[in-house]
Order: sequence, then structure tokens, then C-alpha cells
Amino acid sequence: MPLKTPFAIDAQQLSKSFPSANGDISLFKDLDMQIEKGQSVAIIGPSGTGKSTLLSLLAGLDTPSSGTVALSGISLNDLAEEQKAAWRAKNISFVFQSFHLLAELTALENTQLPLDIQGQNNAPQQAQQWLESVGLGSRTSHFPAQLSGGEQQRVAIARAFITQPSLLFADEPTGNLDTKTGENIIKLLFDFSAKTQATLILITHDEQLAQRCDQVYKLANGKITRWQSTPPPSAAVLATENQQSYEAQP
Ligand SMILES: Nc1ncnc2c1ncn2[C@@H]1O[C@H](COP(=O)(O)OP(=O)(O)OP(=O)(O)O)[C@@H](O)[C@H]1O
Ligand SMILES: [Mg+2]
Repeated sequence: MPLKTPFAIDAQQLSKSFPSANGDISLFKDLDMQIEKGQSVAIIGPSGTGKSTLLSLLAGLDTPSSGTVALSGISLNDLAEEQKAAWRAKNISFVFQSFHLLAELTALENTQLPLDIQGQNNAPQQAQQWLESVGLGSRTSHFPAQLSGGEQQRVAIARAFITQPSLLFADEPTGNLDTKTGENIIKLLFDFSAKTQATLILITHDEQLAQRCDQVYKLANGKITRWQSTPPPSAAVLATENQQSYEAQP
């Protein structure tokens, strides 16, 4: 019998709370998420509900109060710190709302940085190619301060994909950009994820954008639910469907 491919992300019974002066504050409790390899997944939900915190847990950057996260069948928390860092560097990339480029490095240097850290010697050539593929072939020697917001995010995308990660986490990647620029950024994220078969986890406040993903989860009131935005079916349809278990989440 063929072995079952492990989930890209398998989070079980994930809980996170923070200590405070008035006792522990629970952000969420017993979350389960299973994400297949190569899928695109959006996480939506009100501000402050813990979306970024959840992303950090899924990426192994933060430890849950309880529960487990396995990435491609590997539990990062079972690895020694050095192995964990090496696995993350090879397999995980991030794109953030505020770009997170290093101000003192050029676009080319920022892009090649993940490969430099891995000790690859053709990093500049690869960085040049990735910058060309995001349309910044003529901006390679610019520093972040000499680039527009959209251009900085394109550098961040080139840097994210240069390692061909299996998991790409994007935390409100269009949050600081105008609609049209944001559209271009999203197109690059989807196109490159599809091309490299990366699993894409996208936090967004934009429900229309979320709906372009294979799955949408909503985090609210400490719980995660599968979300669908289509209006409730008409009474006639409901009457028929009520016989089946109908699981639309508001
Ligand atoms: N290390 C920490 N210690 C204490 N509280 C924290 C810590 N990290 C996050 N929080 C709290 O957890 C809550 C959720 O934060 P988080 O950034 O995950 O929310 P979010 O859903 O991403 O919000 P937004 O949509 O505004 O980005 C916030 O109230 C925040 O103050
Ligand atoms: Mg956030």
C-alpha cells in the first residue's frame, strides 16, 4: 500500500495564551488545521484575534502553550535548535506587510541573502534572475529607501522564493500598498507558489482576495472555522439541503 503523503501543515489541538497581570489571556484554544501540499490557504479574522501569532506557531517561530505542529510530517519542536533553524531556512519563507528588507543592503544583496546564509556560491546570479522575474532587473543596485513600496515588496518576494521554499507564509502582504500595486504583488505570489509548488498561507483582511485561495479559514473568538462567503441559499434550496449536513460557516 502506498504511503500517504504527509500534510504540508498538520496542527493539532493548538492553544496559545499569554500571561498578564490579571492571569493568563487565552488567544485561541484547541485549533486543528490540516493543509495539503501545494494548496493556497487564506486566514481572515478581526484584528487582534491572533492571526500573526498563529502564523508564527505554524512556522515554528513560536511555541504553542499546548498542541503540536508538524510540517511535512516533521515536528519542528522535536528538533534541536540548530536543525530547526536549518530546516526552516531551507523550507520556509515569509513575506510581511512592512517588507522587512535590510536597509543597508541593495536589492540584489537582500535577495541573495538567504542563499548566502546557506553558503551557495551562485547566489548573485540567482538573485539577478529572481529580480528580473519580478520586473526589477534594472533596480538591482538600489537600496530599499530608493524603491517604492511595491518595488520593495517585489524584492521581498524575490528573496522569499529564491530558496524555492515548500512553505510560503505571507502576513498581509498588500496591507501597505494601493489596490493596483497590491494586485500585482498577489499575482506574483500566486504565480510563483504555483510554479514552485509551494504551499501558500496568506493572512489578509481582504475577503475577495481570500476567496482566490483553495481554502479560507476564519479566526475569531478563539476558534478557527472554515469560511465561505456565499450568501445563504434560498429557503427552497435549504429545505433540500437540510437533509444533508450543511456546514457553511458564517
Ligand atoms: N508576546 C506576547 N505577549 C503578550 N501578548 C501578545 C504577545 N504576542 C501577541 N500578543 C497579543 O495577542 C493578540 C493577537 O495578536 P496578533 O498580532 O496575533 O493579532 P492579529 O490577528 O494578527 O491582528 P492584526 O490583524 O491587527 O494584525 C494581541 O492582543 C496581542 O497584543
Ligand atoms: Mg497580524
